[in-house]
Amino acid sequence: TTEPIRDQLNRPIRDLRISVTDRCNFRCTYCMPKEIFGDDYPFLPKNELLTLEEICDVAQLFASLGVKKIRLTGGEPLLRRNLPELVGRLVNMEGIEDIGLTTNGLLLKQYGQALYDQGLRRVNISLDALNPELFAYMNGRGIKPAAILDNIEHARQLGFQIKVNMVVQKGVNDQEILPMAAYFKEKGITLCFIEFMDVGNDNDWSLKRVVTKRDIYDRLSRVYELEALEPHYFGEVAQRYRYKDGEAEIGFITSVSESFCSTCTRARLSSEGKFYTCLFASQGFDLRELLRGGASKDELLTAIRSVWEQRSDRYSDERTEQRVRQRKKINMSYIGG
Ligand code: GTP
Ligand code: 5AD
Ligand code: SF4
Ligand code: SF4
Repeated sequence: TTEPIRDQLNRPIRDLRISVTDRCNFRCTYCMPKEIFGDDYPFLPKNELLTLEEICDVAQLFASLGVKKIRLTGGEPLLRRNLPELVGRLVNMEGIEDIGLTTNGLLLKQYGQALYDQGLRRVNISLDALNPELFAYMNGRGIKPAAILDNIEHARQLGFQIKVNMVVQKGVNDQEILPMAAYFKEKGITLCFIEFMDVGNDNDWSLKRVVTKRDIYDRLSRVYELEALEPHYFGEVAQRYRYKDGEAEIGFITSVSESFCSTCTRARLSSEGKFYTCLFASQGFDLRELLRGGASKDELLTAIRSVWEQRSDRYSDERTEQRVRQRKKINMSYIGG
């Protein structure tokens, strides 16, 4: 492999977030509200999804251009058939050093062991509240937090490194910040607070609903002593802290209050094979068409390279409510977060 390619803002390509399905078994109010994602919602038909072979081919191409880190997302990635097999192939892929999975955790009891056996070690699990009624409402499917907490425990016993993600929305679940922190501190599990973002077009985002890192930090620091940690690597998304009196860490993903576009090294691949250069992009580059049209490896590499080299996205840096309302974006469940 050569030097990673760089975009217009001199950012190398390092990570590939792969959405393996656009479907989900949850209907989170801020992501796939059930009023919109109803029984007749036109999800992608199977023949439009990339096959495992195609996903691996694309991952290999990206790896040869500098990608070292892969994250599997959805929708809900555990709904994808043969996900463990995909993991196994990616684990053995040259150039790939790290693989993570982002899931709502509901099916982890079913697939955790198989994924571990294939070499997966890192799992990020979303959980927005410990209050049963609130969580049941937020996931749109009446699932109780105990089901996810059980599966987190199960995954931990299998040996996974676990991070829990909480999307915080003012007036919805911000009263859960302290109970969540206390619970996961005691468990020694990293809890990551995510500022509510204006992804997609259906989640009714407004700046008024965002709870900033500063606000969350202030609430926590009234109860706990925290200490900032150095990033693990250049461009790490989460800002990390540790509790002075314990083992656990917390993180903040500050896409709204302190955007991190200048170090963004992430490419995204949708489940139907479109290549996006930003979470907030409105258009992707159709790799599936090239793949299925019989393009050569070199043609594919040239195409990917040229899309990345033209990249100038810095949506979160430029965000204003004005733009948010104007711009049509792709949905998070489709691009994978
Ligand atoms: P690791 O650092 O590998 O543990 O993963 P991660 O925290 O980057 O991934 P995860 O899927 O857990 O995402 C956590 C949150 O960060 C989600 O809300 C993502 O949408 C958000 N996120 C990840 N990458 C980006 C990005 O490039 N831009 C923005 N705006 N948000 C991102
Ligand atoms: N803002 C912030 N995070 C979001 N996620 C989904 N929608 C949003 C949003 N609007 C989170 C999920 C999951 C991760 C992939 O992205 O909860 O943890
Ligand atoms: Fe919720 Fe994640 Fe499913 Fe979206 S993809 S509805 S955030 S579980
Ligand atoms: Fe990267 Fe776009 Fe997120 Fe900025 S908004 S960090 S460019 S994905």
